[in-house]
Amino acid sequence: MLATKIRRAYAPCSLGDWPTPLEAHPSLAHAVGLDALWLKREDHAGGNKVRGLEFLFAGMPAGSVFVTVGGTGSSHCLTTARFARAQGHRTAVALFDQPETDISRRVAAATRVAADVVVCATSPLTLPWALVRAWRAARRLGPRTPRWIPGGGAEPRAVIGHFLAALELGLQLDAPPDAIVVPLGTGGTAAGIALGLAWLGWRTQVVAVRVAPRIVANRWRTLRLARRAATLLGRAGVGFDAPRVSLGVRVVDAMGPGYGHPTPEGERARALAAEHGLRLDPTYGAKAFSLFLQSTDIRRGIFWHTFPSY
Ligand SMILES: Cc1ncc(COP(=O)(O)O)c(C=O)c1O
Repeated sequence: MLATKIRRAYAPCSLGDWPTPLEAHPSLAHAVGLDALWLKREDHAGGNKVRGLEFLFAGMPAGSVFVTVGGTGSSHCLTTARFARAQGHRTAVALFDQPETDISRRVAAATRVAADVVVCATSPLTLPWALVRAWRAARRLGPRTPRWIPGGGAEPRAVIGHFLAALELGLQLDAPPDAIVVPLGTGGTAAGIALGLAWLGWRTQVVAVRVAPRIVANRWRTLRLARRAATLLGRAGVGFDAPRVSLGVRVVDAMGPGYGHPTPEGERARALAAEHGLRLDPTYGAKAFSLFLQSTDIRRGIFWHTFPSY
């Protein structure tokens, strides 16, 4: 089986319970005017970032030190710190401010507990300095040179984890949906899904809902990550015929005034989802889900539920 072949080639760590469930949600589908809506419950496995971390931690000896960056309410930083600790590793994170919400406050507090070093930038201008301080502190945490994990874990190796998530769909659904709606932060999740759909031969569109500034969240970067991941897969003997890989990624903007700022559309979507038992966060899930409240041509859709419950 393809997933087994990839796991054998890359020997990712085992951090999550796969496959994550795919749940049909008829009442929510009806509420947003769709014929069918499914939720891909990445939240059940600790959030979307776990997929990538399995590959980013692969082969790292216990006691390794990781350095990464994100907003104060970044689930990427928290997930990295928590799972690193569980694997016997350590982390230093550099954080930049984001608007405070209940959830971002909880994530920030948990990150302070889970990470070994937390350096907060006092303004966007001082973020590079915060990173330098985090890196220096990380060097003191262990004998080996620390490993850098880019913001959001956006590395081609991590994309392979999301590729496997898309392959799961092939076994969970009888027929391709029209679209998969996913929050677009640093692009790795959407890249992996798009690559997986190409492999499955599905013409499903990935609607990547932009929740972060264009400089980090954009189609060009997403496709580049996908292509680089395809090259890695090729090395594992999973050949993509590059010209034939057409990736159906559409980017839709829903960021509003800035990353982490709740928007009226997102909050409306959040309230509606909550009425149907679906809990969304304001930074990612709510803004992405708001896509379903716009008039679209989606009849059968999947919502990629990425934010773990904290
Ligand atoms: C909860 C959550 N959902 C979605 C995303 C976006 O994923 P990506 O950065 O792979 O685009 C992130 C990124 O940090 C996230 O933390």
